[in-house]
Amino acid sequence: MKPSHLKKNTFTSLFFLVLFFTACQKNPQSPGYEYMPDMYRSVGYDAYQPNPNFADGTTAQPPVEGTMPYQEDPSKILDIMPYTLPNTPEGYAAAANVKNPLPYSEAVVKEGEALFLNFCSHCHGQKGLGDGPVGTKNPALIPPAYNSPQLKDLPEGQIFHSITYGKGMMGAHRYQLTKTQRWKLVHYVQTLQKQPAQ
Ligand code: HEC
Repeated sequence: MKPSHLKKNTFTSLFFLVLFFTACQKNPQSPGYEYMPDMYRSVGYDAYQPNPNFADGTTAQPPVEGTMPYQEDPSKILDIMPYTLPNTPEGYAAAANVKNPLPYSEAVVKEGEALFLNFCSHCHGQKGLGDGPVGTKNPALIPPAYNSPQLKDLPEGQIFHSITYGKGMMGAHRYQLTKTQRWKLVHYVQTLQKQPAQ
């Protein structure tokens, strides 16, 4: 046997010897030597578990501002679109330029009317003339008629804004009514604005 062969054999047997000893761990559960163990064993936090990695110390983080939920049904996308104008005099003024994203149709007006009779008529009256039963108890809650000089030209965006945030003695309706419902109401209120004045 040539010395070079001898060297090779010694090396090979040494290699298997090392492998033999390193492969046999005392703990059969242990994977042996690990490079970057963090990558194998990341800490799995539960959603509501305290978490030192975030400034507020909780695992469940709120979604990034402006995040919208996924909505597959195109007819419901309007409801998840944010209404960005704030409840301030400036927001109200800017609302004059907001347009109704819901196309007009007789069906939409009918649905708007049904909503109006449930949510608005007790103050505004069946035809929006400001003669609802609530005003007979508390005159402070008598609204102007929609076809009055004060309200007959109120732009659609401001109608929506006032339904959303309320106005004066009228409360906000953004928690009771979806955006789609509010825009349906806008279509219906516009038909009441066009009534001939008494
Ligand atoms: C509690 C009684 C009450 C209810 C319920 C109510 N309103 Fe009003 N609404 C008022 C009063 C009072 C005003 C006058 C507010 C003011 O100008 O100070 C008003 C004003 C308005 C205006 C004019 C807003 C503006 O920008 O000048 C619109 C449009 C309107 N209401 C629509 C609705 C609709 C639609 C509903 C139903 C979703 C509704 N309101 C429910 C009492 C009510």
